[in-house]
Amino acid sequence: MLPQEFLYQLRQANPIDTVMGSYVHLIKAGSLLKCLCPFHSEKTPSCTVYPHNNSFYCFGCHAGGDVITFIMQIEGLPYMDAVRMLAERAGMTVPEQERDNGESKFRMRLLELNRAAARYFFENLTGKDKRGLIYLKERALKPEIIRKYGLGYADDRWDGLLNAMKQLGYTDEELLGANLCSRSGKTGNLYDKFRNRVIFPIFDLRGSVIAFGGRTIEKDGEPKYLNSSDTPVFKKGRNLFSMNFAKKSQSKRLILAEGYMDVISIHQAGFENVVASLGTALTPDQCRLMRQYAEEVVISYDSDAAGQNATVKAVNLLRAVGLRPRILHMHDAKDPDEYIKKFGSAYFRKLLEEADDAVSYELQRCRDGTDPESEDGTITALHKAISVLSGIENELDRNVYLSKIAKEYEISPEILKAQVAQEIRKRKKNEKKQTWTALKTAPLLRDPINPEAAARPKEAKAEEQILCYLFRQPDALEDVLKQIRPEEFVTELNRRIFRHLTDKLQQGYPYDLSLFSDSFTPQEMGRITGIEASHSELDISPKAVSDCIRVLKNPKLDPAKAAELDDSDWAANFQAIKQQKRS
Ligand code: UTP
Ligand code: MN
Repeated sequence: MLPQEFLYQLRQANPIDTVMGSYVHLIKAGSLLKCLCPFHSEKTPSCTVYPHNNSFYCFGCHAGGDVITFIMQIEGLPYMDAVRMLAERAGMTVPEQERDNGESKFRMRLLELNRAAARYFFENLTGKDKRGLIYLKERALKPEIIRKYGLGYADDRWDGLLNAMKQLGYTDEELLGANLCSRSGKTGNLYDKFRNRVIFPIFDLRGSVIAFGGRTIEKDGEPKYLNSSDTPVFKKGRNLFSMNFAKKSQSKRLILAEGYMDVISIHQAGFENVVASLGTALTPDQCRLMRQYAEEVVISYDSDAAGQNATVKAVNLLRAVGLRPRILHMHDAKDPDEYIKKFGSAYFRKLLEEADDAVSYELQRCRDGTDPESEDGTITALHKAISVLSGIENELDRNVYLSKIAKEYEISPEILKAQVAQEIRKRKKNEKKQTWTALKTAPLLRDPINPEAAARPKEAKAEEQILCYLFRQPDALEDVLKQIRPEEFVTELNRRIFRHLTDKLQQGYPYDLSLFSDSFTPQEMGRITGIEASHSELDISPKAVSDCIRVLKNPKLDPAKAAELDDSDWAANFQAIKQQKRS
């Protein structure tokens, strides 16, 4: 357990608005701040930051907590690592007794190992075997960019890295953990994962090396690219290649490419705001990451069929987080790397400027695979176009495209308009139907964080009101304790919160959300913050609290509802009533 005094200092030194401000764009809303929630996809901000008590809460996905919870969530770190990171940020030292946490020690070792490996690969470029360096030069990379990206080389030995890292004191477990080595099934010995490859280190936003990609330098080497799999310090779907540079570019526009080489070429051509996903299809998490820095994304995927299909998917994913997708059109080159090599950076800049908005692109693609000469082909294409048009939310925008399509297909704008309107109605109806079915088939209001609340909604609500009252008026604790003890709380989560709060206040700590963050999970922290935030307009009177206490003291279960409960809820319920009767 960390001393409360230290935690107090840590919070003081890390105001929530400053810390969150370095990850998300905060907008002032009265005395509060708001932002697009980094933990779920949304287009209008519902994540609220409360500077007065150093907390945040998202009314959309119920993430919330103090500054430590925020770092745990956004960086995917365990509690102690989040504390350490904040301490480092503020130039503080974490009290010694807590330094020995196994899990976070391992993560630290892996990061150190990755850095040492990156250095080894980099130095290897200029070692005896120069094939890696020659390969990179052939691909027209300048020494500055090789250095900037820390590119490297793994030669064809099976134990080059292995031996070098062992000499530095890294263990088998660490080499396997970082996914730099594999164990041979035959001999049981370790061997290097990356061989005969140029190496692309992957950095996180703080500049730590978290993973590697390696491209074969052999003509038809397989696989062409080899990537680190997920490790304790790396989750593929949550990181973007070169985001560490792109975020510094201050541009509200990002360029999204398909591959490592495209990114580096584009960067070398003078556009630092370029990123790529890492050996997988684009994920919603990666889109959210981009949304934190940009408003617009120019998709610059390969011009082949695979690239174009990926483009359509990326358009939808980017839209879902409120990013404006645009699409770059390349002719006579298969990817940006090749384009820049062939035509130079000035032409690439031109392509960027001419990038289509996504709607035009989708409308153009409606003709794909149809015969423009035949009526049949035209009708098929037109139906696809109607579907695209009806997906445009803004009416003015929709009408602009509509007129264009009417002209292009030589049909009456009125008829097209009517068709689109009909399609929109159909869509709305379908959406309603889907929401309704989802609601109907959803299991009885489940609450994964406080599962017992489903069976005891009234009691859970009463408990939350009492807790909220105490969060605001911790001085009233003794009064409340005269009427109800923590044991008498019905749901396990709320009981635990009440007990923890009682303990801390009785030990003399001033009330603060961070009193909870070392003993409750981030999800539970979200709930605690939610309890505090969602009753914020309500002024709870001592009388209202007594009413709530009465609810808890007289457990009742509506027989009609009891019949609907499933076995485990029923059992929880039964236990609760029994306990109440006893006490
Ligand atoms: P591409 O095959 O388009 O390669 O894969 P590229 O980027 O043009 O590579 P060069 O120019 O031939 O060197 C695009 C991306 O897909 C992933 C990599 O991230 C690559 O950069 N990929 C590709 C893999 O992860 N594994 C593979 O075997 C191939
Ligand atoms: Mn390429």
